[in-house]
Amino acid sequence: MSGTTRALDMKPASTLGKALRYGGTFLAVGVGLVSYRYIAKVGPVPPNVLGNRFFAPWIVVHAAAASTALILGTIQLSSGVRQRWPALHRASGLVYVAGCIVGGASALVLSAGLTTGPVATAGFGALGVLWLHATLQGLRTARARDFARHRAWMIRSYALTFAAVTLRIYLPVSQIIGIDFDFAYQCIAWLCWVPNLVIAEACLRRGARPRADPRNEASFRGQE
Ligand code: HEM
Repeated sequence: MSGTTRALDMKPASTLGKALRYGGTFLAVGVGLVSYRYIAKVGPVPPNVLGNRFFAPWIVVHAAAASTALILGTIQLSSGVRQRWPALHRASGLVYVAGCIVGGASALVLSAGLTTGPVATAGFGALGVLWLHATLQGLRTARARDFARHRAWMIRSYALTFAAVTLRIYLPVSQIIGIDFDFAYQCIAWLCWVPNLVIAEACLRRGARPRADPRNEASFRGQE
């Protein structure tokens, strides 16, 4: 198995790998479920979010769609699900893509409505554009049956989706250590996703050119 295929399969090779995988899944599902509170209109809303110029109705649209993508992405990256239940992978993948498109489009609206300054607007705006781009490339390559590139684009897409988790780790930590909120928010608008993307890219580049794994190729045969 090549380095690329190993990375694309996201198979934990070690105890640390497993801990990261399960920890990441736990955090993603937890953040996703808690974020559904915007649909139910329960729980606290951070003051900066309340101040967003496009808060209603976009925050509910965004939280509903993006949370669904964050949760479903954990299923999409599982090579076990892909191989055993390819129909589930395809159905859940379509909902993931829809969640990213609606979540990404509404994120662009919310980015334009931020009151925390142009650096934050640019950071979240760039994240939204790249998120849409990576996800649409993932969809296009799946339709073209180029599954090695499909997996690579979807790994990039989920690395960006996962910004929802890293943001919610960095922001409270920045406040605990006493960094000014507006300054922290502007930095974290970039820090929540740039390292995620660099790590995903490094994993993908560990091998040579993307190459399809025949085991996974078989899991997509139902599309023919
Ligand atoms: C990856 C691309 C994403 C971008 C560019 C983005 C952008 C934004 C922006 C600009 C806001 C408004 C923040 C403010 O007004 O201060 C926001 C809020 C929010 N986003 Fe996203 N978002 C993304 C992904 C996600 C994901 C995957 C989730 C899933 C949980 C999510 C859940 C939320 C929630 C719940 C809020 C309301 C604020 C809060 O309670 O933390 N977002 N997002």
